[in-house]
Amino acid sequence: MIKIKRIKNPKKFQYILQKIYFESYEGVNQEYYEKTPEEFRDYLDWLIRKSGDGFIVAIKNNEIIGFLVIDLDWYDEKLKTTVGEIHEICVRKKFQRKGIGKMLVQYAEKLAKKQKLNYLCGWVGIENFASLNFFKKLNFVEGEIKWQIWKRVRKKLANFE
Ligand SMILES: CC(C)(COP(=O)(O)OP(=O)(O)OC[C@H]1O[C@@H](n2cnc3c(N)ncnc32)[C@H](O)[C@@H]1OP(=O)(O)O)[C@@H](O)C(=O)NCCC(=O)NCCS
Repeated sequence: MIKIKRIKNPKKFQYILQKIYFESYEGVNQEYYEKTPEEFRDYLDWLIRKSGDGFIVAIKNNEIIGFLVIDLDWYDEKLKTTVGEIHEICVRKKFQRKGIGKMLVQYAEKLAKKQKLNYLCGWVGIENFASLNFFKKLNFVEGEIKWQIWKRVRKKLANFE
């Protein structure tokens, strides 16, 4: 059984998050993720500063096997509104294609709706086709916006105004 929950102190889990991160991205173009444990640690610290209360994990047999970081206070310049921003999502290789990523996004979506946010968004590597397909399957659309090597994806949740 897979359990999805929010964790309160992500720093405490930094080593397992690091392990999951590098294992998940194996085989993905190196441009799209941090290259060294030091870079990952800096990135994690940024994630914690920016959205420390948005760490959602997937647990199987008492072990974290995937995580997602959502920022519920992210201003989207194009949409001119605050959106739920998925900064990171990864699932350990051997647990991929079992619906766990989908469960993580669904949980994030629930949190965004609770905050009355109208959109769930993220940046995906232009050639990270697995991830682009993943978001497409979850009804995200690829926006026209690109930034360097990234493509914007977004999902309209509702009109909460
Ligand atoms: C992207 C990622 C989180 C998806 O997690 P997952 O648990 O494997 O995803 P799910 O099993 O919930 O997939 C849901 C649907 O998305 C699509 N999908 C997922 N992975 C895919 C892949 N590698 N290739 C094509 N489609 C894929 C499929 O349609 C899938 O449904 P199906 O298996 O019934 O066909 C995972 O592949 C991962 O950790 N990738 C490396 C890190 C990464 O690139 N993160 C995204 C950064 S923007």
